[in-house]
Amino acid sequence: MTAGYSGTSGERRPVPRHLLSVADLGQEGIQEVMALADSFAEVSERSIPRVPALRGKTVMSLFYEDSTRTRLSFEAAAKRLSADTLTFTVSASSVSKGECLRDTAETISAMGVDAVVIRHASAGAPWQVASWVDACVINAGDGWHEHPTQALLDCYTIRSRMGSLHGLRIAIVGDVKHSRVARSDVLAFTMLGAEVTLVAPPTLLPPNLSGWPVRVSSDLDAVLGNCGVVYMLRMQAERQTEALLPSLREYTARFGLTRARADLLADDALVMHPGPMNRGVEIAADVAELPCSVITRQVANGVAVRMAVLFLLLGASPRG
Ligand code: NCD
Repeated sequence: MTAGYSGTSGERRPVPRHLLSVADLGQEGIQEVMALADSFAEVSERSIPRVPALRGKTVMSLFYEDSTRTRLSFEAAAKRLSADTLTFTVSASSVSKGECLRDTAETISAMGVDAVVIRHASAGAPWQVASWVDACVINAGDGWHEHPTQALLDCYTIRSRMGSLHGLRIAIVGDVKHSRVARSDVLAFTMLGAEVTLVAPPTLLPPNLSGWPVRVSSDLDAVLGNCGVVYMLRMQAERQTEALLPSLREYTARFGLTRARADLLADDALVMHPGPMNRGVEIAADVAELPCSVITRQVANGVAVRMAVLFLLLGASPRG
């Protein structure tokens, strides 16, 4: 496997140094990650799921916000590539003594890590860290802004079930305003030729959607019968500083994926959610278990996709 990918005109496009936004990869880069993920998915099925591709490299996770799936998935991915892993736990570090992001980043840099996987509550924090450290920086979610590896694993999951995203109608439903997943998914899905419709109450949409290549609807029932994928977003209660909804019950009544609504979906349509789910709010408990739900597949695919990302960035790295 080589680092770098061909552009549409056939020229070799350099691998980005960091993965901060889906835009760093572009359409060809996303395709390259998915092709690499195909080969790494096969590694994950072996009795000893490990290859020596990144032996001698060190990957650090630096999570300033809680995470279950993303952190574990990156750590599993790094281990399956034989990289060393370091986990920085903010609550058990000098951050609790007031150490700033820059000093923490410089400490990490001094230790000679090759990649930093960062999640932070502030939009733009991964860009800041990338300007301070020598390591490759991977954005594992920055505030409401972006979550590029979630978008990559979502594209990969859709491609594995549908063959392609080209011309596919995808509805992204719920708290778009506070969702970094929605921002990265819109970029990635549309780069691969999908038609995206955002379905949300006006208070849960970003105040300005100009430049977003999407349609908008507030009628979930009308959209459901006409889409190939329905992507439910978590209600981000922790990011809501004002009363944006009359009540959660009313929200669920209009925008929740209930069992009755799931019956409106086409036979081959997929139900997705990035997790963690608020069962009974944006998605009914039994809908998450239906055969059309690929929510567990998303988690499983996340490891292969993150192996692909680490390999793409670190395999091309001149360090070490
Ligand atoms: C998302 C996140 O943290 O941005 N979850 C995830 O990474 N799997 C979505 C969310 O928290 O709603």
